[in-house]
Amino acid sequence: MTILDGKKTSNDIKDEIAEAVKALKSKSKKTPHLAAVLVGTDGASMTYVNAKVKACERIGFNSTLIDLPENTSEENLLENIEKLNNDNDIDGFIVQLPLPKHIDEQKVLMAVNPDKDVDGFHPINVGKMTLDLPCFLSATPFGILELLERYKVETSGANVVVIGRSHIVGRPLSILMSQKRKAGNATVTVAHSRTKNLSEITQKADIIVAALGIPEFLTGDMVKEGVTIIDVGITRVPDETKPRGYRLAGDVHFESVGKKASFITPVPGGVGPMTIAMLLKNTLLACQRNNN
Ligand code: GUN
Repeated sequence: MTILDGKKTSNDIKDEIAEAVKALKSKSKKTPHLAAVLVGTDGASMTYVNAKVKACERIGFNSTLIDLPENTSEENLLENIEKLNNDNDIDGFIVQLPLPKHIDEQKVLMAVNPDKDVDGFHPINVGKMTLDLPCFLSATPFGILELLERYKVETSGANVVVIGRSHIVGRPLSILMSQKRKAGNATVTVAHSRTKNLSEITQKADIIVAALGIPEFLTGDMVKEGVTIIDVGITRVPDETKPRGYRLAGDVHFESVGKKASFITPVPGGVGPMTIAMLLKNTLLACQRNNN
């Protein structure tokens, strides 16, 4: 069994990006600048955004964190987005999700200039993705493709089962892996909460992507020998034995599934760090575009 080491792979990618940043600086070109908007104090979102900002520092990007209170109005958030859209020094920015309930998420995502939408969430970028046109690919699916490619996991002709149809992961990844592309050309099945006989479907899969957000949902009896497992889940499960009072659990029961898998991502240290690396890669691409 081979661990698909997202931490190491993301560090390799960050090193590659840091080299590209040095090259830009040596030519007196613009330094990539990523901004992140965080609304409220959700613990997981704060952790993710801080990790994104820290990663920017490490590779030589400029970063800006716009930290707004939980009761921020939709209007105020949209004004902040408009400022970022019009700020020529910002190459790309993200609005961390989820947003508080009183804010219309779709309206906010639509307000982001598609050319600065390094999360790839704007309908223009999603539409371009489905048509195989150049665009920002959303970071988590992009990171999964990159991990499969760098570990040379064969996807061409493979039976892939994606569990979960979220706009951020399941839906885009299912489209990408069915396309004629690197880490693509797969026969993809999208399973979700209404799927019947899920176990029969997952037992036939060569690659399973678990992205449904239920801790340790996928168990060893649901998979075949030699399967490749991508675990996108990361849930805080209460655990009194841990200093923080919780542990991080994926959507996969690692112990039982790991015994049968040929490749598997750990949680933490699998898909999560890859998401950050690909967000940085998108920001570098945006900056290179602005430099030309
Ligand atoms: N919340 C969970 N994942 C993501 C992500 O990739 N981007 C943003 N903006 N919010 C998220």
